[in-house]
Amino acid sequence: MQIRDFEAFKKWLTSNQNVSYVLVRCDLNIPSDTEDLSRIHAIKDTILELLALNLKVVLISHYKRPNSKEYFKRAFSLKRIAKKISKVVGEKVKFCGGPIQKISRTDFKSKITLLENLRFYEGEGKNDENFAKELAKFADVYINEAFSVSHRAHASVEAITRILPSFAGISFAREVHGLSEVISNIEKPYTVIIGGSKVSSKIKVLESISMQADYLIITGAMATTFQEALGHNMGKSLVERELFKAVLKIYTDSSAKIILPMDFLVSENINEKGCPCSIDDVKKNEGCFDIGPVSVQIFKDIIDKSKTLLWNGAIGAFEFANFSTASKKISKFVAEKTKKKEIVSIIGGGETVASIGSYKDSMTFVSTAGGAFLEYVTGAELPGIKALSESHVAAA
Ligand code: 3PG
Repeated sequence: MQIRDFEAFKKWLTSNQNVSYVLVRCDLNIPSDTEDLSRIHAIKDTILELLALNLKVVLISHYKRPNSKEYFKRAFSLKRIAKKISKVVGEKVKFCGGPIQKISRTDFKSKITLLENLRFYEGEGKNDENFAKELAKFADVYINEAFSVSHRAHASVEAITRILPSFAGISFAREVHGLSEVISNIEKPYTVIIGGSKVSSKIKVLESISMQADYLIITGAMATTFQEALGHNMGKSLVERELFKAVLKIYTDSSAKIILPMDFLVSENINEKGCPCSIDDVKKNEGCFDIGPVSVQIFKDIIDKSKTLLWNGAIGAFEFANFSTASKKISKFVAEKTKKKEIVSIIGGGETVASIGSYKDSMTFVSTAGGAFLEYVTGAELPGIKALSESHVAAA
């Protein structure tokens, strides 16, 4: 699918001289407990190019998933991100908080303005065209620089493209082109690592990947649901019991060989040091917060015989130093194999990228996207990409 990219935007601009404001959809849903600013770095080039074209930039993004009682609460505000963007981009970013219904273009005193969390409005998640119109009043043209949200048919991703001329940002197009290139050349054996905390958020993707990969390594807190469903006691680890039937079906039907951790680092409290523990010795009051040394070796052996590796989701609770060992060991191993051109490594997801630290620089392809990345690589049609395709009418 051909998307209208930044080059197309510049061409369009030459015949649309009275454009002064550009609405840029970004993904500033940055894990608050890490200092990973990849998602801000991803929007830098587009912002700088827009400023060089003498255009004013209005940044919009969601942040986490507030419920209606949490709207406009500090914990969910984007205010704290404005300074981080200024630092990365090297230009002042003015935060314009409060309900967008009370804001107009005359409130934008800076070259770059950041508006409040889009998920403070019901219309965003409902892909409501009226809400999209409220957003559209801030600009003359729309640029989507948030590939990582393109799996959501939300107002700032989809409905808005029916109102404003719409284009993909530099990094959005780079991610789509880069990913489509790597996934069209997958060399076997093909291994996928899926980690992270909730099986429920990745169940559909797990179903698809279990039919596409040769090896499927399930780790992080996802693994504890699988292992308990298979009859092992996972203590007080995160376990989604309501999904036992679904995960057992994936486990049985999978054409990929499913690999689960066989030992863990456990502790009663995540702030304490973890002890290595075999799968059948986990006590009721212990949680499994990282995989153990035996599993690290099993995972490495599988990776070692693979030609392509796709990885989404943290291996363990890497944010806690005591539980970051396995993430570091696996990242180092994959980085070294990638450097030696023994494997093609495709990494996606904010948390995942944060968990591999500076090893990300050695990987073949790193995507800032998590859910969107997984849906894209498993062949789903993403509403955010479709909305920017050449055949769409809004930019005609
Ligand atoms: C992400 O972090 O994957 C994106 O920001 C999308 O967030 P969401 O899963 O809350 O829609």
